[in-house]
Amino acid sequence: MERRVFLKKYLKVSVFFLLTLFSAIASLFIFPSVKREKKTLFFKVFSEYNLPKRGLKRVDIKIENNVRHYSMAVFIVNHDNEIFALSPVCTHLGCLVNWSRHKNLFICPCHGGVYDIKGFIKEGPPRKPLSRLPLKTDNGEVYIGLKV
Ligand code: FES
Repeated sequence: MERRVFLKKYLKVSVFFLLTLFSAIASLFIFPSVKREKKTLFFKVFSEYNLPKRGLKRVDIKIENNVRHYSMAVFIVNHDNEIFALSPVCTHLGCLVNWSRHKNLFICPCHGGVYDIKGFIKEGPPRKPLSRLPLKTDNGEVYIGLKV
């Protein structure tokens, strides 16, 4: 094979390879990977008998799937004859809030976010209230819905 012919073929193969590589990289930006849609799964926390009569109760829900095992805290609140579940995740930057029994408020230790017992903002940088989580009872058991 002549040197000139070899160089032409080499150049064509190189250009083809570079174009393929470029289009593969460009497709990553044009079609970002599809995010996995999280499903709401209900976790049994305790029997209805253990629901707080008033005020709130913190429960830790153990989540086990084939990827990882972890636990998540949830506040179950009984206030003004309404029972609901609140996420402890601060809506500012995601720290976990604590309940202050003395102040009757949720307080975020990170930047001073403060929420009332219904999860509404009282002070600080958060712009949204604490998230309410699905809560249901079935056959005398209480279930909390979490997106996992
Ligand atoms: S993360 Fe809670 S106030 Fe910033």
